[in-house]
Amino acid sequence: MSTADISSSTTKISIVYYSGTGNIHKLAVAAEEAAAKTGAEVRLRRVAEYVDASLAPEFTEWTEAWRENAEAIADIPTATADDLDWADAILIGGPGRFGMIPAPLKHFIDLAWPLNARGGLSGKVMSSFTSTGAPHGGQEATILSLNTVFCHWGGIIVPPGITDDIMTAPSNGNPYGVSSVSGQQAVPGRLAENVTEDNLAAIAHQTRRMLEVADALRRGRAADADR
Ligand SMILES: Cc1cc2nc3c(=O)[nH]c(=O)nc-3n(C[C@H](O)[C@H](O)[C@H](O)COP(=O)(O)O)c2cc1C
Repeated sequence: MSTADISSSTTKISIVYYSGTGNIHKLAVAAEEAAAKTGAEVRLRRVAEYVDASLAPEFTEWTEAWRENAEAIADIPTATADDLDWADAILIGGPGRFGMIPAPLKHFIDLAWPLNARGGLSGKVMSSFTSTGAPHGGQEATILSLNTVFCHWGGIIVPPGITDDIMTAPSNGNPYGVSSVSGQQAVPGRLAENVTEDNLAAIAHQTRRMLEVADALRRGRAADADR
């Protein structure tokens, strides 16, 4: 059972993400805006980078883009396990890295171990999103890794499915979790330029959908508690 406060009159969502070069950040901000418009309480939280130097200094454009993104997102509060504990709904995003969850995000997930061990994540609504360089570069593998974590946490996974016309737009179509394609290069000064308006509309849809379910669960649990 979720430890979120069931007597609260609004549904709470934490949007937790790791972004190296801005694509996931842009999707996360669109999710935050969509959630706020529903009247939900929203926490937008970034997972901190855990290396001080570029992973690949010899890739100078990527390194410059990575630094530019770090500066752009510096003011976003960093995620803690409390952000997961607080929420009724948890939306997590990260880029695919070799078809897997990026290491900083995996580290954050590992830090939620004590919270999970005391059952603090059970019964919350969960969903995930990603971005990759190539259309077949491992979006499903990355999303399913995140969703596998949600299974371990006892979450209630609410995927976007193809439940709205926006999901069939050419740059969308991933029913497991909204996914964008950045292309092979991160270009300084043009961060996240390949995240499309349709991707942004799709993540808004995914966010609203999970909030609908989270809201219904919260109301049902509050009614049960009053009996
Ligand atoms: C270390 C590393 C590994 C990556 N692995 C993949 C991959 O397996 N498949 C792919 O399509 N893109 C891969 N990419 C590209 C990123 O997934 C892609 O650029 C994504 O849009 C970055 O999101 P971000 O800007 O939020 O960090 C990789 C990038 C890095 C830095």
